Amino acid sequence: MRLRPMPDEHAPIKRLVIFGATGDLAERMMFPSLYFLDADRLLPDDFTIVGAARSALDHAAFLALVRAAVEARPEGVDEGVWERFSARLRYCQADVSKPDGLSGLAAGGAVDIPTIYYLALSPSLYGAVCGALDKAGLACGDCRIVMEKPIGHDLATSRAINAEVASVFEENRVFRIDHYLGKETVQNLIALRFANTFFEPLWNNLAIDHVQITVAETEGVGDRWGYYDEYGALRDMVQNHMMQLLCLLAMEPPADAGADSVRDEKVKVLKSMRPFSRASAQQLSVRGQYRGGVVDGKAAAAYEEEKGGQSDTETFVALRADIDNWRWAGVPFYLRTGKRLAERRTQIVIQFKPLPHSIFGPQAQEDLMANRLVIDLQPKEDISLLLMNRRPGLSAQRLQALPLSLTLPSGGRRRIAYERLLLDVLACNPALFVRRDEVELAWAWVDGVAAAWREAGLPPKPYAAGSWGPAGAFALLERSGRAWLDE
Ligand code: NDP
Ligand code: BG6
Repeated sequence: MRLRPMPDEHAPIKRLVIFGATGDLAERMMFPSLYFLDADRLLPDDFTIVGAARSALDHAAFLALVRAAVEARPEGVDEGVWERFSARLRYCQADVSKPDGLSGLAAGGAVDIPTIYYLALSPSLYGAVCGALDKAGLACGDCRIVMEKPIGHDLATSRAINAEVASVFEENRVFRIDHYLGKETVQNLIALRFANTFFEPLWNNLAIDHVQITVAETEGVGDRWGYYDEYGALRDMVQNHMMQLLCLLAMEPPADAGADSVRDEKVKVLKSMRPFSRASAQQLSVRGQYRGGVVDGKAAAAYEEEKGGQSDTETFVALRADIDNWRWAGVPFYLRTGKRLAERRTQIVIQFKPLPHSIFGPQAQEDLMANRLVIDLQPKEDISLLLMNRRPGLSAQRLQALPLSLTLPSGGRRRIAYERLLLDVLACNPALFVRRDEVELAWAWVDGVAAAWREAGLPPKPYAAGSWGPAGAFALLERSGRAWLDE
């Protein structure tokens, strides 16, 4: 076994290489995020950003591509910032699937440069790119690697990718990104849980009835179907973003905010998740696929039309997850995500139990609602606590719901989640990144769901674009007298 020097977290990072620089993610997220960090003077002075892909682009064409990406943001371009930012940009033609495909990056002996390699590429290329970096001598001791989700298609492929990456980069140099962990409200959720005393005594099966996590999108799959058709909503959204949210909600208080303390607690949640079986799959989950419909007042094509052929891939999933431990026994976690739904909404609802006994008369009784904590991640960012209040006036006792916002207006620009995460990679802080055991445990659970679907022969049910998914998604909660919060 080769011994490599341990990374020095204080080593000044000189360069960021984005593999997949001509792709959708780089364009929509990476370049604007880096531009905004530079606008706030958060990038080191002598820091270069290298875009890498197979396309033959000259410097001017690459600058034009990045500029267009920044201009597409509502904030627009500040010429002073652009001058500084564009001076950092380089383009390097590279094919990571070829043994010598990275020769351009190593040109002129530029090998021992502490570099962040960002893989905005298909995960099937992650092993190849690490091998090519190693071969070209570009994986120096202070280099870091950032990997986009999904890492693999199932547990076996995830393990294989992680092993290939680990043969070149130690775990503490590997940053598995889940951009949901960089979202402002997700950070606020952690503050809410662990910086206050009064939620903790209620954060369990004695006070909480159930939890809902919804990630609803109005967008369809569009021209990403080549990727999406192989993955579907379960692997594209549940395995990563939604299970990360579930872990942060359900984990025990960590000893500190350090990366391993938090990740150890998330791992315990993943180990407690009840596996699906063929019988439970039918009862506890619903798959769906959008047909044509109307979204935001515009006609929307069916998924199969976009793909140009028949498909058994789900674009919607709703399921009930159970966490078998003392804190959460008997508390369902309902997860729902889909494309082409009625509105864009990412929301967590913590539904508390109803009063054990009401002292109020019949009229007030009608007004009574159980308390709930609603965490909105997007489009609005807010955390609100629904409390009951007396309706003012001299009339008989009537009650009303008071949604108490727990979020201070930030006043500033709403940041892209990638801005925070890129800064953390620069600072070598892995707390908001996913550890290898986490990603593999999440795959193990998701593989169980997929296997149960196969054994039970559950096809995706059709739903109209612009709706809230197949009827079965409502029945999933109605069976136990509950309902999705769809206001
Ligand atoms: P795209 O298909 O849009 O882009 C892929 C990029 O990879 C292109 O720049 C392509 O450029 C480059 N590429 C392909 N093959 C090679 C190769 N052999 N050597 C070097 N470069 C290559 O994908 P996305 O940007 O959508 O996704 C990238 C990654 O990010 C994936 O893992 C995806 O799952 C993940 N992701 C994407 C999100 C999104 O919203 N798009 C969200 C979350 C994660 P060229 O053809 O010029 O080589
Ligand atoms: C990505 C998925 O990881 O997350 C996409 O691949 C999805 O399919 C996206 O649209 C949603 O992210 P956000 O931040 O817009 O909710």
